[in-house]
Amino acid sequence: MKRYVLCMTTTGIAATALFGCAAAGDDATGTAATAETAQLATAALGSALPGTDATRFAEARDNFIQEEGISDGLGPTFNESACGHCHNTGAVGGSGVQIERRFGKVTNGIFYGYDQPGDNEGGTLRQLFSNAPFVNGTVSCTVPLDQEPADATVHNVGRRSLPLFGLGLVDAMPDGWFDLLAAIEPSATRGTVLRSIPQFPDSRDPNQGLNKTRVQRFGIKDQQTNLVSFSGDAYVNEMGITTQSCYKGTSILAFANENYPNNKALTAGCNGGDLAPAQTIPGVPVETDDAVGACVVGTTKVDQIQDDLANFLFFMEHLAPPPSAALDPFTAVAGAFLFVATGCGDCHTPLPFVTPSSPYNGVPGNFVFFPFSDFLVHDMGSLGDGIGNTGDTVAKTRQMRTAPLWGVRFNTQLLHDGRAPNVRAAILAHDGQGRAAKTTFAALPSADQAVLVAFVNAL
Ligand code: HEC
Ligand code: HEC
Repeated sequence: MKRYVLCMTTTGIAATALFGCAAAGDDATGTAATAETAQLATAALGSALPGTDATRFAEARDNFIQEEGISDGLGPTFNESACGHCHNTGAVGGSGVQIERRFGKVTNGIFYGYDQPGDNEGGTLRQLFSNAPFVNGTVSCTVPLDQEPADATVHNVGRRSLPLFGLGLVDAMPDGWFDLLAAIEPSATRGTVLRSIPQFPDSRDPNQGLNKTRVQRFGIKDQQTNLVSFSGDAYVNEMGITTQSCYKGTSILAFANENYPNNKALTAGCNGGDLAPAQTIPGVPVETDDAVGACVVGTTKVDQIQDDLANFLFFMEHLAPPPSAALDPFTAVAGAFLFVATGCGDCHTPLPFVTPSSPYNGVPGNFVFFPFSDFLVHDMGSLGDGIGNTGDTVAKTRQMRTAPLWGVRFNTQLLHDGRAPNVRAAILAHDGQGRAAKTTFAALPSADQAVLVAFVNAL
């Protein structure tokens, strides 16, 4: 017997666990009823979670859409000049139409990410733009474009911008939740939980630290553990803006070094490839664009997130989940059963997520939400993008994170590289651990396929 049933409400539909099933508006006092209402009642795409300080949210959002220039530190290489340029479909914080490019090399079945001494090309991301020729003082500077190395065997892999709605709720989830999801998945489709030490641990969370691992849950391949690290990572990798921050008295330098094209240093005197003022703080690279300064225990500097990162974090953290759409009762119920019966729910779990009672990051507590993803990676066979970390087996490079299906209808391109124009095409591209569900879907009568697709398009 299947574990789930669907609960229908007057405003929309949401899947919830059999035992917590209650319609919004019922007198039932279960958290499912209350918080389900909270998610479904979300007015507009891009609005803030309940209880968010509106002024602070607006200020953070302004920073997220602010365009940066060479004197702010943009470059030497970059993909765009504002977070909001790539995350704006439907509303600020949405997905985007930009496709980024990655490369790699497989030798004897092992992946190489061009990031080791001797053959360091600055990693797998090929930034698409570089700063135009500029003059720093008396020195004329040019920044070549990043190139794919001639011996790369994995070429020009695309990655599309992802929507950010509701991610603060996901960041609030304890590691154990993801372990549980993996444990209850059928073995044939079971996802893998990845863990690593956050590049920038979130000091508000006692469970994070410089020597504590955390479950990776963000990015197309679950490459990041938390939203503050993603902020620093995106700022340097997408825009070339380098930052330094403080965590419990330790200087966070993970995002402090510029990405030179193919990791080749520029002419001396070119200020790291942009025109942000050079740093003079001991321990902080001269080329770091925005730094908080020395991290001294016993001062306000003990824990300090660089201002822009703090704004990006606050904005993303407080973005409400995308609203679900209303469905006619037949499609709501039949679609839900088809979703589970076809095996979609094995990875795109319909289980409700519930935030802890007092989330460390300030999102509402006991908030129930339905992302329709386990946030785990799965071996997707030919749909895998072939990009990994140095030393990964080829099988590992095929692992992709289950794409959350909430708000999927707001995206104009689907799958990691945007190859699918719609839900049906996305399903038909599933392979590897997703192959059985794809085959089952393809064997459904076309009327049932249409109901399932309509259901997914309302999540
Ligand atoms: C050039 C376009 C571009 C810009 C600019 C950009 N992003 Fe993204 N963003 C992407 C792409 C592409 C992905 C998916 C990449 C991946 O996971 O490898 C992504 C993914 C993310 C994710 C992960 C979402 C998830 O579901 O796990 C976060 C968080 C994020 N971006 C935040 C930011 C922030 C903050 C900024 C500004 C500092 C920013 N992005 C700037 C393109 C962009
Ligand atoms: C084995 C796990 C698994 C199963 C089973 C599965 N999916 Fe997926 N699904 C994924 C992964 C992983 C991705 C992301 C693939 C990528 O990044 O290219 C994905 C992506 C998608 C997307 C694209 C979403 C987006 O925003 O890009 C849709 C739509 C989708 N799945 C629907 C379904 C439906 C409907 C079913 C059932 C017929 C299903 N999936 C079964 C793992 C699974």
